[in-house]
Amino acid sequence: RKHLGTSVIGNNLIVLDSVGSTNDYLKRLGSDGCENGTVVTTREQKSGKGRLGRVWQSKRDENLAFSILLRPKLAPKDVTPITPLAGLAVCKALRKTTGLDCRIKWPNDIIIGKKKLVGILTEMCAEFDAVEYVITGIGVNVDQIEFPEEIAYKATSILLETGRHYDKNRLLAALLGQIEREFTRYNLELPPEALEEYVSLCATIGRSVTFKKGERTVSGAAVGVTAAGELRVMLSDGTVRTLNAGEVTVQGI
Ligand code: BTN
Repeated sequence: RKHLGTSVIGNNLIVLDSVGSTNDYLKRLGSDGCENGTVVTTREQKSGKGRLGRVWQSKRDENLAFSILLRPKLAPKDVTPITPLAGLAVCKALRKTTGLDCRIKWPNDIIIGKKKLVGILTEMCAEFDAVEYVITGIGVNVDQIEFPEEIAYKATSILLETGRHYDKNRLLAALLGQIEREFTRYNLELPPEALEEYVSLCATIGRSVTFKKGERTVSGAAVGVTAAGELRVMLSDGTVRTLNAGEVTVQGI
């Protein structure tokens, strides 16, 4: 812990040998009152969860899987910037430590070219319009070289991209450090400077995206991100719509 260099995030660091999902494990600790900034990581994750009900594989000692619990004094509607901020921090930390040209696929996947390197899943527990805790779970493909057939064309790892093995403890320390810096610097919000940084690293901006409007599929161009972390999309008639994650498919990446 003294090597982490953070002051809040990871102050309480729990290292497991094996677990179903670090998000679920931390949820239980959260409901039992664990401290702000508690981090859970594991050598093996047996039933990791992805966004939109998908699964996230993490075999023993291959990848990095960890979750961070925060207790921000916020209303539930105001936690949305946490996810893009975490994406920004992870992207910056990986660029620094590995030199890889990784980018953010809105809202918070980290990709290299067209392939995914990192997935982030944020979950919230709120009661009576106040947030009790927010859990941000992060999975980084570090040493994985084989992926299930269905995702092999769109997944990659640090080893596949660099040909090098990176120490997972050091990577974790670098990621937690950068996350704490961005969260503190931007106060869990997306002020204009944060948005500018985010957009400069975001591969989605400028691309064509599609979304459902009733029965119809509408396409437009991603032109920006709002302070709440939503995507701004310009339609062919020049009007701009704001969309949240889950509604949009990005073309080509
Ligand atoms: C996605 O891209 O769909 C999100 C994947 C999130 C995976 C991480 S691994 C650590 C944490 N624990 C989980 O069960 N999921 C997240």
